[in-house]
Amino acid sequence: MTRTTPVKLGEPLPRGLLDAGERMGAEELRAHQLTLLQQTLRHAYDHVELYRKKFDAAGVTPDDCRTLEDLGRFPFTTKADLRDTYPFGMFAVPMADVRRIHASSGTTGRPTVVGYTENDLSMWAEVVARSIRAAGGRPGHKVHVSYGYGLFTGGLGAHYGAERAGCTVIPASGGMTARQVQIIQDFRPEIIMVTPSYMLTLLDEFERQGIDPRTTSLQVGIFGAEPWTEEMRREIEERLDIHAVDIYGLSEVIGPGVAQECVETKDGLHVWEDHFYPEVVDPLTDAVMAEGQGGELVFTSLTKEALPIVRYRTRDLTRLLPGTARPAFRRIEKITGRCDDMIILRGVNVFPSQIEEIVLRTPGVAPHFQVRLTQRGRMDEMTVRAEARQGADAEQRGAAAAAIARGVKDGVGVTVRVEIVDPETLERSVGKIRRIIDERGSLPRS
Ligand code: DLL
Repeated sequence: MTRTTPVKLGEPLPRGLLDAGERMGAEELRAHQLTLLQQTLRHAYDHVELYRKKFDAAGVTPDDCRTLEDLGRFPFTTKADLRDTYPFGMFAVPMADVRRIHASSGTTGRPTVVGYTENDLSMWAEVVARSIRAAGGRPGHKVHVSYGYGLFTGGLGAHYGAERAGCTVIPASGGMTARQVQIIQDFRPEIIMVTPSYMLTLLDEFERQGIDPRTTSLQVGIFGAEPWTEEMRREIEERLDIHAVDIYGLSEVIGPGVAQECVETKDGLHVWEDHFYPEVVDPLTDAVMAEGQGGELVFTSLTKEALPIVRYRTRDLTRLLPGTARPAFRRIEKITGRCDDMIILRGVNVFPSQIEEIVLRTPGVAPHFQVRLTQRGRMDEMTVRAEARQGADAEQRGAAAAAIARGVKDGVGVTVRVEIVDPETLERSVGKIRRIIDERGSLPRS
């Protein structure tokens, strides 16, 4: 059950604490967005060769954007564009004006590199501070940051946002799990910012040290950087007795703080639309989808200087919904997965998040799992590996395996093998978890 007990940090933000952007009405916001969009398109066209070439090839100029809908006439930007212009080819300001560089880990090929001017860093701190307030954070709270510090945007992004929000930052970064638990016990932070999968690693460590995680000082967790399900929210909220809210972002757009769930509603993430303009498009036809329809999320930055980004294809799947706790800002539904994470198994689309939902509601197994893909002849096979809970006997393990296999067959429509492995044998996360282990060869797929 999602946490319902009243806690100090679960209250809606009093109107007086909303910033100027959050106080805008819908009409004012749309007018503001159009002005900024026109400026961004002009800035990109005038200062980045790639944009100039792409706009010219598509037969559009920045002057063709007279309404927000006109954005649909402009070409998309992809990760490949950033890779092709590696490292700094998409920067729109002289290097002397770039104050910081971040880069994605780039598991395949070159990393993507992003840059920030002083104004960009200030805007970023502002949107993360706003996100922390929406999550319940207030000046004087201590924020334990376990997102990794470094080229990854998670650590430093959260860090400066928390400072801007008037909080006290504990810059723990990722790793050294036993020490993190000690620090949480001793420094007594109210808020933790971390990937949900690393939160599970921390939870196990609390229990290993004989500490009941429900007794910690933590009241709110701000989780993101990877997909996580409602089942995972329940697991974390119950085991820690905290509010768990979702933060979304990506380095190409800014880093964390593009969208944030409000603690009082927990109903999807409000996009901070005064800085980032969202669209959802059909990943196959590229058509812009109406509000409420699912597809690939696309972002255009409205206020960025060093790296203006136009119609960036995030590969993340969601839909746009009207605003609730912040009525002028539209929400995105919790990200269900990425186009890249979609496994096509014998013609059926499968996302790791669907497996997560099933594993997490199965008794006898811990919330740790992996999806292994292998190939027998020309047939792809999927094995779900889940970890037994401590003390689960052979009978309970057998029942769990059967329940997961049945859940996947009924819920997703594919037959999978299920292996229940011993407690503490699956790889643990220290940041973003890797769920899919693809051991398929290079045979053509059926
Ligand atoms: O992960 C930025 C970030 C750091 C966000 C800390 C939130 C907290 P990248 O490394 O560029 O940036 O990865 C971006 O991560 O396109 C999504 O696929 C995924 N992602 C980020 N937040 C969420 C979320 C950071 N809340 C990629 N839910 C994105 C689901 C998320 N997926």
